[in-house]
Amino acid sequence: MPESAESSFLVVANRLPVDRLTTPDGETRWRRSPGGLVTALQPVLRAEAGTWVGWSGDEGAAPEPFTLDGMRLSPVSLTGEELRDYYEGFSNATLWPLYHDAVEQPAFHRHWWRSYERVNRRFAERAAEEAGRDALVWVQDYQLQLVPAMLRKLRPDVRIGFFLHIPFPPTELFMQLPNRLEVLRGLLGADVVGFQSPGAAQNFLRLTRQLLDLRPRGHRVVAEDGREVLAESFPISIDVTETEAVAGTDVVKDRAAELRRELGEPRHVILGVDRLDYTKGIEQRIKAFRELLSDGELSVPDVVMVQVATPSRERVEHYRALRRTVEREVGRINGDYGRVGVPAVHYLHQSYNRRELAALYRIADVMVVTPLRDGMNLVAKEYVATRLENDGALVLSEFAGAAADLRQAFLVNPHDLDAVKSGMLTAIRAPVEDRRRRMKAMRRYLRGHDVKHWARGFLTALGVPETATAYDSDNMRETSD
Ligand code: ADP
Ligand code: G6P
Repeated sequence: MPESAESSFLVVANRLPVDRLTTPDGETRWRRSPGGLVTALQPVLRAEAGTWVGWSGDEGAAPEPFTLDGMRLSPVSLTGEELRDYYEGFSNATLWPLYHDAVEQPAFHRHWWRSYERVNRRFAERAAEEAGRDALVWVQDYQLQLVPAMLRKLRPDVRIGFFLHIPFPPTELFMQLPNRLEVLRGLLGADVVGFQSPGAAQNFLRLTRQLLDLRPRGHRVVAEDGREVLAESFPISIDVTETEAVAGTDVVKDRAAELRRELGEPRHVILGVDRLDYTKGIEQRIKAFRELLSDGELSVPDVVMVQVATPSRERVEHYRALRRTVEREVGRINGDYGRVGVPAVHYLHQSYNRRELAALYRIADVMVVTPLRDGMNLVAKEYVATRLENDGALVLSEFAGAAADLRQAFLVNPHDLDAVKSGMLTAIRAPVEDRRRRMKAMRRYLRGHDVKHWARGFLTALGVPETATAYDSDNMRETSD
């Protein structure tokens, strides 16, 4: 490995913000990685001119550190076995379902845990090599919960922040985790542990009392080594200025008009955009739409639904099963209610660039975001930010972190099919003035609570002086994709 650049600001996340792809002629290309974590953190890291430590998205040896779009990227390797046991296993078949209300049954295997520990150590070691003296290291998400304590042992001089992008479970669920003590101690290695909601921070603090016999006071707790740890909520957001700018370009406007024509100029377009994940409530939403068609409340081609389902974690069984179910349901609904050239549901299992997504948001009269449980949900915020004319309507699950921010959305309980149906109908039929009032209020809120506000809040809590986190908007620019 070449000599480290010794950064003063490091992001450590399971994935780099780009995935490595090998083209058929053997060339290496990098493509933006999926998910909300990358959306939120990429502009922050670029503004800080820091280093991002993460996995390159494929199996085997990692490339040397390199610079891309003004970010230094330091790739960490995963073997095929680690991909199975650490990533697909412990991270995505144990922690992911457990932390999302166990909406699917979490699986526990001892060899997955051993791999999780080994890979966390590798990330901690790499962060220790990359960090300059007194650097600030910001560790991200459930895949790396042991890194804070491991890194602290290796580098007691650095400030360590940890942010959990997904929910933190209620104590009864967390207690199921066979390695619960190690996970809790891993997190307590940080100076600040950040969560999406106050309830999640409270769950964490309560567990420090229950499992480690610590004495949390307010948002703080003194860890076993005598350090004070702050556990608080910092709801994440998006780069609103950038999202608005992309949505306002002629390219995006023209593409939106073209998409609407291609859909046959329906009166109402209903849109869903999610990673194909069982926490997102995709099945329930399609079922609600199907019932609205069969009840005669809605009809095709007056109304069409577009569902973008981004490919995700395709080797994990829960995800394969979900894909089969969703695709069967889409086939069934189109068989029953579509016509030649006019399907009821347009289903797209693909990744898109920012402009194409913005065009889709622009044609959506109603955006339906109905996760059974979601840490935040940035898709809901992106939709609101693209509604430059203050039109459109957002149907949003009460169980998404975003519901605490976007309070003027049409809020629904995604477990209650009738509530989802009536939420969709109310949104479609709401008077223009009502929709405008709601959208305006949500856009105003988002402008004051964008990703800069989030990063500044977290870094200030970590002790970084406010002036040092005052991003100028030029530095927050996105790449074209
Ligand atoms: P999660 O992090 O669970 O995937 P979020 O809603 O918080 O959920 O974030 C998803 C991010 O991924 C958003 O920034 C969204 O724009 C992006 N995204 C979703 N679907 C696609 C897609 N098909 N192609 C490209 N980006 C996508
Ligand atoms: C969510 C998680 C992220 C993860 C992303 C994509 O946003 O919070 O940590 O990176 O989903 O999932 P993947 O498994 O493809 O990295």
